[in-house]
Amino acid sequence: MSKKDTSQQLWTGRFTEATDAFVEAFTASEHFDRRLYRQDIRGSIAHARMLAKAGVLTAQERDAIIQGLEELREEIDQGDFNWSPALEDVHMNIEKRLTDRIGEAGKKLHTGRSRNDQVATDIRLYLRDEIDHIRAELIRFQHGLVQLAEQELDTILPGFTHLQVAQPVSFGHHMLAWYEMLVRDQERLEDCRKRLNVMPLGSAALAGTSFPIDRDMTCAELEFDRPSRNSLDAVSDRDFAMEFTAAAAILLTHTSRMAEEMIIWASPLVDFIDLPDRFCTGSSIMPQKKNPDVAEIVRGKTARVNGHLIALLTLMKSQPLAYNRDNQEDKEPLFDTVDTVRDCLRAFADMVPAMRVKRENMYAAARKGFATATDLADYLVRKGVPFRDAHAIVGAAVRHGVEQGMDLADMDLPTLQGFSDTIGEDVYQVLTLEGSVAARDHLGGTAPNQVRSQIRAARERLSKLS
Ligand code: ARG
Repeated sequence: MSKKDTSQQLWTGRFTEATDAFVEAFTASEHFDRRLYRQDIRGSIAHARMLAKAGVLTAQERDAIIQGLEELREEIDQGDFNWSPALEDVHMNIEKRLTDRIGEAGKKLHTGRSRNDQVATDIRLYLRDEIDHIRAELIRFQHGLVQLAEQELDTILPGFTHLQVAQPVSFGHHMLAWYEMLVRDQERLEDCRKRLNVMPLGSAALAGTSFPIDRDMTCAELEFDRPSRNSLDAVSDRDFAMEFTAAAAILLTHTSRMAEEMIIWASPLVDFIDLPDRFCTGSSIMPQKKNPDVAEIVRGKTARVNGHLIALLTLMKSQPLAYNRDNQEDKEPLFDTVDTVRDCLRAFADMVPAMRVKRENMYAAARKGFATATDLADYLVRKGVPFRDAHAIVGAAVRHGVEQGMDLADMDLPTLQGFSDTIGEDVYQVLTLEGSVAARDHLGGTAPNQVRSQIRAARERLSKLS
């Protein structure tokens, strides 16, 4: 069989025919993994410096490689780079263009490494940067929530369980509940970053290399915490991608919950908040509509990230050691997860603190739903009635209120005493919304007092973050 022209590709030595055109397109990843070009070039520069120090490259070769790579980076930045699917992926596109430019020295860059350790290193460098961006956005969102919490510290709304009016709470307390979710998300990302920040470079294809490489040198240059300890594991491990996506899925689960609440609150049937016009859209047919689309899209985005998590888990399931080409499929779900999380956080960090809180409507709703029924029961307990009896007494009073269309606080004393003669004039203090909220004055409770001290703690924590 005559040898076909396979001049573009970098691995054709043992082949006797060119790659099938469909296979070339089917296996290529440059159209998406080109996103890693900065990390790929950074890793190659570190590798070239190390090879020169190890005596594998001359100083001139090293300098030619570094200069060539920096020029290529500049060209890619400018959009002037000629990407070729025939060169498969980001790694070979860059290596080939480097060699076209600088000649022989370019062909030596791949000494002592493999695309397997190269790509594993690139993704970790990429995700490390993205985690830092996402973390910064998360912190900006937290600041916004704390500010809103402070502004609405004394705003009372009905707290819900089962989406039924339960007990009055401070709106500031509600915002701090969202803040707490984001604190956990931040911790999860920081934790993921620790395990991610280990350097696979030097593992080569799977077993390491016979060249006298200095992994500590590349590790320091690339700002990893340490080199990996096992080459087989290092080239095949994608735990960091699964972990990041799991953390992202939980984060978006949180934003979907927030989205859901804002959508409910913004409904004219509830009318607790007004979302800024710039974050809403209208209807093409119904002129009266103002739709909370940003919140709905954030809620919907959770679906795709959950899908990406399942995709990555399934991708890794049952994979034998070491590298398998399956792993090329890790990038699109990972990249899309990064983009989605960043966009959702950006949208909410901008929109949520800008919502207009309709204090009177919240207050009126809390007054309508027998939100202080528990307070009345607690009052009876303090007067010596066993809680279970108190529960039944208040239940009867609420039934009366439902029949009469009257809140507990609107009933006169003789009416209330009809349910229990232990009730006295002082009952009205506990039946007010303010009294109910203020009474929950312990760590974690909704009393404005407590919310204020949680705001202080949150501010203190945020001020210490870099
Ligand atoms: N493009 C591949 C990936 O994304 C990296 C190259 C490894 N390919 C190989 N044939 N060993 O995983």
